[in-house]
Amino acid sequence: MNWAGLIKHYSEYLPVSEKTPELTLKEGNTPLVHFPNLSEQLGIELYGKVEGANPTGSFKDRGMVMAVAKAIEEGSNSVICASTGNTSASAAAYAAKAGICAIIVIPKGKVAMGKLAQAIMYGAEIVEIDGNFDDALKMVRELSKKTDVTLVNSVNPYRLEGQKTAAFEVCDQLGIAPDILAIPVGNAGNISAYWKGFKEYHELKQTGLPKIFGFEAEGAAAIVKNQVIEQPETIATAIRIGNPASWELAIAARDESNGAINSVTDKEIANAFKLLASKEGIFAEPGSCASIAGLIQQCEKGTIEKGSKVVAVLTGNGLKDPQTAIDQLDVNPVSLPNDEKAVMDYVESMVSQ
Ligand code: F0G
Repeated sequence: MNWAGLIKHYSEYLPVSEKTPELTLKEGNTPLVHFPNLSEQLGIELYGKVEGANPTGSFKDRGMVMAVAKAIEEGSNSVICASTGNTSASAAAYAAKAGICAIIVIPKGKVAMGKLAQAIMYGAEIVEIDGNFDDALKMVRELSKKTDVTLVNSVNPYRLEGQKTAAFEVCDQLGIAPDILAIPVGNAGNISAYWKGFKEYHELKQTGLPKIFGFEAEGAAAIVKNQVIEQPETIATAIRIGNPASWELAIAARDESNGAINSVTDKEIANAFKLLASKEGIFAEPGSCASIAGLIQQCEKGTIEKGSKVVAVLTGNGLKDPQTAIDQLDVNPVSLPNDEKAVMDYVESMVSQ
C-alpha cells in the first residue's frame, strides 16, 4: 500500500477540510507485532503497537501532524509546547516541514539525549527551565493565551484527534478490539485518545471495546494516589509528570472501559525494558515499557484472565534514550586483543556453552 500519511488516510474520521494543509511525514500505519515469548511467559496473547516506528520515533507524530496542520490552517506561524522530550521533537519536526517556528520549553537535565538531539537538528527554539514538566506546561498555557503562538500540547484538542487513529489501526490489524489495551500514562492524553478512538470505531464498525489498563511510574503516580505529585521522579523521564492535564479524561477511560490505572516501580520498568528487547527484539524507551511492566505485574496478581488478547502500546523508540540502556549494563563488554585466534577462541567458548 502506498501510505498517504495520517491526515489523508483518515480524513473522514478527522476534523479536516479542503483548507487543511496536506502536511505529512508519513506518520501512522505502525506495526502491530505478536510477542510469542512474552505471551507464553504470561499466559496471554500479547501484541505490541510499535509507535517508535513513527517518523520522529514516538506516537506524538499522530497528534502533532494534526495540531500543526490546523495551526497553519488557522493562520498561525509559530507553535509552542512544554515537553519531557518527545512532544518537542515531534513539534520541531512538523514545524520544520511546514516552515514555521517551534518554541519548546523543557525541564533542564531531564530530557533523554536523543530527544534533545532531535529538537536541535529540527531547528527548534529551545528553552530549558529549572523546573519540571508540570511547571513548563503551566508557563506555556499562560504564554499561549497572551500571544499569537499556538499551543500544541495535548490540551490542544487536535492532538487527541490525531492520536485516536492508533486505536483504529489496532482494530484493523487484529480484526477486532483487544480484550485489554495496556498503555503508559504521563500527561494522560494518549490513554484518553485511545479510548475516544475505540469508542468511535466501535460505533461505526462494531469492533468491540477493550478494557483500558493504564500504568503510571510509581514516583509520578498522581492518578493512582489521587493527588498532585509536586516532585515527580522516575527513570522513565517521558512520564515524569505529577499533575496530568487530561486527568479527568483518563479516569473516564478507566471507568467507562471497566479498566484500571496502576503504578509500576522503576525496577519493574527497567526489568520490562530489558525483557522486551532481549525476548522480542523490540527496543522501546523506558517510559513505553511501563505498559509491559504493568502487564507482568497484573498477570502475577491474577487480574488478567489467561488467554486474553492484549495489546501493549510501545510509545517511543529505545534509541531516544541510549544512556538509560547503557546504565542497565552490569557487565562490561569483553575486551580482547586485535587477534583472530583470541576472538575465535572466545566465540567458540560461547557457542559451545
Ligand atoms: N510514552 C512516551 C514515550 C511519552 O513521551 C509520553 C509523553 C508518554 C508515554 C505518556 O503519554 O502524556 O499522553 O500520557 N510524553 C510527553 C512529552 C509528556 O512531552 O513528550 P501521555
